[in-house]
Amino acid sequence: MPANEASLEALGRYALRFVRPGHTIGLGTGRAASAFIRALGASGIEVRGVPTSSPAEELARSVGIPIVTLEQAGKIDIDVDGADEVDPRLNLIKGLGGALVREKIVAASSRRLVVLVGYEKMVKRLGDHGVIPVEVVPFGVSLVSAKIKAMGIKPRVREKDGKEFITDNGNVILDCAVKKIASPARLDRDLLTIPGVVGTGLFIGMADVVLVAEASGKIRALKR
Ligand code: A5P
Repeated sequence: MPANEASLEALGRYALRFVRPGHTIGLGTGRAASAFIRALGASGIEVRGVPTSSPAEELARSVGIPIVTLEQAGKIDIDVDGADEVDPRLNLIKGLGGALVREKIVAASSRRLVVLVGYEKMVKRLGDHGVIPVEVVPFGVSLVSAKIKAMGIKPRVREKDGKEFITDNGNVILDCAVKKIASPARLDRDLLTIPGVVGTGLFIGMADVVLVAEASGKIRALKR
């Protein structure tokens, strides 16, 4: 059973301890990141936010967080986001919410990436849940799919409400069914060499802190 709404709300509030007045904050996408955005809005701490997706932006505006672009922000102090898988080295798979490219850009622009997850996202090896999302330029889908298949991985174009899912960047997502990944870093590099691939959901060596909502209701902090 995944972490419930109350645990995610508690995670969102816990993450406020990384926030200082005047900070510029990366605002992640998904249920856990949304819980943080709501907690941040309710806290009244004066910050500026750089959203990783249109839903994150809409939510942040609705709770009164001033929004700036990445250009206006310059360096981001902390980025708070969710994840779909976290391995023991704090490497991540992200992107089931479809915002992986902007999430990676914001994370790479940040001094610190704080990740919020329920215990069900902790895995022994990345890929244990079986899917790596890859964002692809629509023009390149057939080439990218063929190259990924040749790597022994099954890609599938993501759909939502019966239609192709289109990202905020106007691209499509290939959900790639993986079994065992020998080296996530090598797989990431290999995928990125395929023309048409914009980004992958593999976030290697990026997370500094992972806050885990345990089944018991406690929060465990893991640091790199
Ligand atoms: C969005 O593209 C994703 O990377 C999310 O951060 C990830 O899917 C986690 O989302 P939840 O907190 O909703 O599980």
